[in-house]
Amino acid sequence: MEIFNTKKSLRNFLDSKSENVKVGFVPTMGALHEGHLSLVRCCRNQNEVVVVSIFVNPTQFNDKEDLANYPRTLDKDLELLRQEHVDVVFCPSVEEMYPEPDTRTFDLGGLDTTMEGAFRPGHFNGVVQIVTKLFEVVLPHRAYFGEKDFQQLTIIRYIVNQLNIPVQIVPCPIVREPDGLAMSSRNMLLGANERQAAPLISQVLFKAKDLKNSLSVSELKKWVVDQIDANPYLQTEYFEIVDDVKLQPVNSWEDPVAKVGCIAVRAGKIRLIDNIRF
Ligand code: PAF
Repeated sequence: MEIFNTKKSLRNFLDSKSENVKVGFVPTMGALHEGHLSLVRCCRNQNEVVVVSIFVNPTQFNDKEDLANYPRTLDKDLELLRQEHVDVVFCPSVEEMYPEPDTRTFDLGGLDTTMEGAFRPGHFNGVVQIVTKLFEVVLPHRAYFGEKDFQQLTIIRYIVNQLNIPVQIVPCPIVREPDGLAMSSRNMLLGANERQAAPLISQVLFKAKDLKNSLSVSELKKWVVDQIDANPYLQTEYFEIVDDVKLQPVNSWEDPVAKVGCIAVRAGKIRLIDNIRF
């Protein structure tokens, strides 16, 4: 497994490969778990060259404390990636990725103003800044994103389309802990009480899917929030049922769109997100 810290060394390596090989790319912020590894495995199955980046991108953190506390486990991450037969890991410094401040502001078609975007102003602009920079260096044929970050996935699809970036975006399903909690690097930061409470989020989402036939959209939204907020360690920030392309709120089950219920919950100092298709 090759490890590169500079864009130039990564590019030199990739340029030395034949033009016919397919390059698959998994961008990450490290602190890898089975969710990331599922993306890597999917990427490994579909491409000749697998590139994984590990970079905690400062421009997507709207909260300095969150950035400072974000888990960093590089040695362990590299070991896990070695076991998955990854070809290349790109771990640049902040200076390498941002020699100058990135002043680009992207028009994300309003997809960035709801849900996560409303609670984390500037977050998606930062995500798009780094993902476009990484795509420019890696020039992948395919790039892999988890459906847990459903809004992020939707925004990446949108911007790739808007900017005509020649990459296929491959979505991968949410991977859950045995108790149902959606895997996230932030899970390791949960306190004991919050960790015990957190599986309630997915339990409620799964039950909500069953209740779809007996409650209206607005009744179901209220039911979900009530169930979660009844737990003293959890506090819902939002639960929205939206269509899966424009992320517009759905008001009726009769709306002829694919529906996704997206939730963000505070568990102590940690924010957890999850979603379910209805
Ligand atoms: O999903 C993530 O881990 C990050 O938002 C990403 C896509 C690696 C960009 O920093």
